[in-house]
Amino acid sequence: MLQNNPQDVIHRMQRDIDDSYDEELELELDDRDLDPDTLLPQGGRSDEEKDARRAYFRELFRLQAELVKLQDWVVHTGHRVVILFEGRDAAGKGGVIKRIAQRLNPRVCRIVALPAPNDRERTQWYFQRYVCHLPAAGEIVLFDRSWYNRAGVERVMGFCTDAEYEEFFQTVPEFERMLARSGIQLIKYWFSISDEEQNARFLSRIHDPLKQWKLSPMDLESRRRWEEYTKAKEIMLERTHIPEAPWWVVQGVDKKKARLNCIAHLLAQIPYVEVERPAIALPEREYHEDYVRRPV
Ligand code: ADP
Ligand code: AMP
Ligand code: MLT
Repeated sequence: MLQNNPQDVIHRMQRDIDDSYDEELELELDDRDLDPDTLLPQGGRSDEEKDARRAYFRELFRLQAELVKLQDWVVHTGHRVVILFEGRDAAGKGGVIKRIAQRLNPRVCRIVALPAPNDRERTQWYFQRYVCHLPAAGEIVLFDRSWYNRAGVERVMGFCTDAEYEEFFQTVPEFERMLARSGIQLIKYWFSISDEEQNARFLSRIHDPLKQWKLSPMDLESRRRWEEYTKAKEIMLERTHIPEAPWWVVQGVDKKKARLNCIAHLLAQIPYVEVERPAIALPEREYHEDYVRRPV
């Protein structure tokens, strides 16, 4: 059953807004029991809900602290990591990517979200425009969609020929094995959501001015072609699930659980240990009398 009745839509929208709040701001609002819209005291949430939210924040912050340790280790050892995030539109890829990168140094952990290929790129080797974003030593690259576009959106929307599609599947396992042999660790996530949940998220995007930009004509078309996407996904997962780079499926309907699960899983994939940092002492500041002067 698709949820189109106005009451459901409003409830959904509220939950969606809740889910997308910046955690620190939200925590602050929660602690002071303020309503996020009016910034006035509220009584809306049950204690149970508040506890659940606090537990989520606590776990997220704990995981983010682990990500910082992971980052130190990656820099220290010169490890190279690529993490791909795939999934249907509105599956929650963007949200988890944002939270992984949130506390990290943007020079160490980069996000790559390429637009549709331009005319020049269309004439290149298909993988070429992705290759230039691969990590150097001590870098983590998060791909918000990736070369798997060819097996998904390009296939379903008809942006590639059958021959190009087949060639992609010939190339991809070899390409990924080459990355692995070169020492790059490749981790691939598929974010899974239900038909009903995607419909609800699109509806809330239609109504939320902060989110309308996320709703592209491509997304609307993808609703119509739900079945084709399902087929394309099944083929993709089956043909590109290799020991060097297996797929991991993240259940995305509960956004917060999906974020925590994905980050916890990611941490377990990388053999990081805490790197000792030398104690930092701030240098003494030189003090000059004339630092503070009256204006003449
Ligand atoms: P997103 O959902 O990632 O915000 P869209 O829904 O607009 O963005 O597009 C989905 C994906 O389809 C993007 O990765 C985009 O680069 C790709 N895409 C859109 N148009 C084309 C096209 N004409 N040819 C190839 N890829 C395309
Ligand atoms: P197939 O691999 O032929 O079983 O097709 C998988 C899905 O992709 C089907 O749902 C087709 O409708 C769709 N499809 C097949 N061929 C193309 C094509 N050339 N371009 C876009 N979509 C296609
Ligand atoms: C997601 O939620 O999966 C991403 O934001 C992608 C999208 O906007 O469709």
